[in-house]
Amino acid sequence: MNSNLENTCIVIFGASGDLTQRKLMPAFYHLFANGLMPVGFRILGVSRSTLDDLAFRARIFAALNSEGKREPAELDAFCDHLRYQSLNTADVAEYAKLKARLEVLCPHSATGGNTLYYLATPPKLYEVIPGGLAAQGLNEDSQGWKRLVVEKPFGYSLASAESLDGEIHRHFQEHQLYRIDHYLGKETVQNLLVFRFSNGMFEPLWNRNFVDYVEITGAELLGVENRGGYYDGAGAVRDMLQNHLLQVLAMVAMEPPAAINADAIRDEAAKVLQSLQPLSEAHLQHNLVLGQYTPSTVRGQALRGYREESGVADDSRTETYVGLKLFIDNWRWQGTPFYVRTGKRLPTRVTEVVIHFKKTPHPVFGNAAPANKLIIRIQPDEGIVMSFGLKRPGAGFDAREVTMDFRYEELEETNMLTAYERLLYDGMKGDATLFARSDAVRACWKYVEPILEYKRNPQALFGYACGTWGPREADELLQKDGRQWRFPCKNLTNTEYCEL
Ligand code: BG6
Repeated sequence: MNSNLENTCIVIFGASGDLTQRKLMPAFYHLFANGLMPVGFRILGVSRSTLDDLAFRARIFAALNSEGKREPAELDAFCDHLRYQSLNTADVAEYAKLKARLEVLCPHSATGGNTLYYLATPPKLYEVIPGGLAAQGLNEDSQGWKRLVVEKPFGYSLASAESLDGEIHRHFQEHQLYRIDHYLGKETVQNLLVFRFSNGMFEPLWNRNFVDYVEITGAELLGVENRGGYYDGAGAVRDMLQNHLLQVLAMVAMEPPAAINADAIRDEAAKVLQSLQPLSEAHLQHNLVLGQYTPSTVRGQALRGYREESGVADDSRTETYVGLKLFIDNWRWQGTPFYVRTGKRLPTRVTEVVIHFKKTPHPVFGNAAPANKLIIRIQPDEGIVMSFGLKRPGAGFDAREVTMDFRYEELEETNMLTAYERLLYDGMKGDATLFARSDAVRACWKYVEPILEYKRNPQALFGYACGTWGPREADELLQKDGRQWRFPCKNLTNTEYCEL
């Protein structure tokens, strides 16, 4: 067990839900198995379902056991820390039951009052639970810390995010709030900072003078699976662009922080997000592409179109793809286009950033000589590839592109924490660096607001067949600038032959 962490009581609201079973419990279990949980901890699952401790434990045991190779004794030891409280979280009066339970389960003598609350409930309860906790004084930071972890989506629009923020801030202060954006928990996203600011050779080139354009891709192989009900009201702009991709962009584009701590890093990230060039309707008409996947047969498998997915309206106009050309209005990036895209049912699952450097000022080896590219692969096959020109062997001076690459799997320390493990660990430790701050979340919503408005335009949606790289119009977005998207393969260095 980890003595760097103070004893903690963890309360998960939404304990019978999918997120708890699929993400939170496996993450807590892995932390436990790796000796990264506090010496003394309890996890109290809270939800409406009528269950007792034993039934809850059995359910989590079964879910974890089915997930992979587990040591039964270790699983048992972990599940010993689990308890359950049935509660109607929407009813403020019920929180007295929670208080009484916590007094027995996590007495001050055992945890010093340290409590981590995790909201893994439907978002409409995010406004209710903090008030219920506060009504019983369960938010008070005076005896032991109280932290509130809030899952995404944090709001549905600028107005709803501001209202949610206001409501939560009535009961919890900003330093107690930990807004999850699991992309920030990814090791390779954090590496963007280390890579940029620990290497003297890249930083001088990392600006409008040397960078021609930047691509950010968040491609998904899967469709909406069983989340049609939620997704149909959200769409790719809210689900991926507003949060994950803009956070990655902030890491790529930000200035060096004054120090490596939560405030300094989040100050710089917020500055980038506040410097995004506002999206006018005229800009969106030419620089935004929204798409929706249509049925197709991919690798012999017939795949449903989005409108046939369960929970999705037959005439849905929700976008499952978004491609956008954007600019950042600051000294470093003025005039440098950033092309950002994300979509479901694309040919492969890949998240990557590509920095395209400018060509040499005088192309002595001809225009065909390739410009340098730096590919930062966030997932899968995590790593970095640098491409450069080299002489093609033989007569003459033709240049060809070759690559140098580094892969995470080559590192000795292969025990990387998953995003949720890292974020839960940091939450227990009180390190908010990798959590989205109020001003950044607000800036992201403010930025995408014109897109949400534009989505109402009936002309705005294009179809694309499952298994393709999105609508043709998305290719044209770059082609009209004389560029093209990189078509990444699952395998980082494989540029000749893809698994498609
Ligand atoms: C979630 C979105 O936040 O991120 C999902 O709601 C999406 O729709 C997922 O599939 C992608 O995360 P990852 O870590 O698989 O890239």
